[in-house]
Amino acid sequence: MIVTTKELFKHAYGKYALGAYNINNAEQTMGLFRGCIESKAPFIIQISKGARNYTNKIMLEGMIRAADEIFPEAIFAVHLDHGDEQTCYDCIDSGFYSSVMIDASSLPFEENVATTKRVVDAAHAKGIAVEAELGQLGGVEEDIAVDEAGAKLTDPKQAAEFIAKTGVDSLACAIGTSHGAFKFSGTQGLHFEVIEEIAKLCPGFPLVMHGSSSVPQDEVARINAAGGKLAGAKGVDANEYLPAAKRGVTKINIDTDGRLVWTRVHREFFRDKPEVFDFRPMGKEFMAEYAKFIGSRNELLGSAGQLEAVRAFLGK
Ligand code: G3H
Ligand code: 13P
Ligand code: ZN
Repeated sequence: MIVTTKELFKHAYGKYALGAYNINNAEQTMGLFRGCIESKAPFIIQISKGARNYTNKIMLEGMIRAADEIFPEAIFAVHLDHGDEQTCYDCIDSGFYSSVMIDASSLPFEENVATTKRVVDAAHAKGIAVEAELGQLGGVEEDIAVDEAGAKLTDPKQAAEFIAKTGVDSLACAIGTSHGAFKFSGTQGLHFEVIEEIAKLCPGFPLVMHGSSSVPQDEVARINAAGGKLAGAKGVDANEYLPAAKRGVTKINIDTDGRLVWTRVHREFFRDKPEVFDFRPMGKEFMAEYAKFIGSRNELLGSAGQLEAVRAFLGK
């Protein structure tokens, strides 16, 4: 059942975080739904611009509708990840999305405010929620590359001003993470003091953590042992998800880790079974492994086991 992101946030705030997982294809979709049903967790499906263009946005929507039918007990929201203004309008008009993210974080503050406000006005007119971003994460997104030194943590006072001026429903904050598999060159961790300060200025307001993959070291080692080249890959400490959630981080974005599961399964498969040329055996293995991975993340986020409580909360 597709529900609004806002309702999910209301139930989760201060208690647990919703896993926001990116999907691109049928195998990821199946693994995601299985993992969330097995761990009894509500969740958010994220669709990036790249994912919409990978096969076709209609294909992606069709897969989600199909999964909704296959798993009628699932409770989830559908969210546009890192949208530009035009893609936000396209998603708002489609009537399919629960929420959109307008990412104007690379613009100066006032332009970010103005762009976000335009999207908020269009989205709210149709009952759709909006996530925006303030500050700059390190790493690589679709069109934007920001190096570690160039990343800029969110200024809490500016965050409060931004929220008041735009009417946005949730805010992605730069708190030390970055996108991709190479997040930290040293021992940097999450800036809890930034989260705490924003939550103090904006009590009850849902915060979002991007770049949250934990880049499991056993996964990296297996990929490298099977011919991969990911030396030095490093992620967020997954034991920090729940402490972040208790402080107001309500949505935690995880994409890279799923790609690592895919890479490990396929590299090992090709290494160990060179005679196989059928994509189904490895696809099946990936779906099972991805479901297992999703379940393990939901446990760490605290969303595992919340499904029935959310259903009761929504009165569905
Ligand atoms: O933050 C970006 C997400 O990991 C999505 O990646 O734009 O390559 O689909 P993508
Ligand atoms: P990771 O690259 O850490 O998985 O972050 C994903 C993300 O922030 C999607 O918006
Ligand atoms: Zn992101």
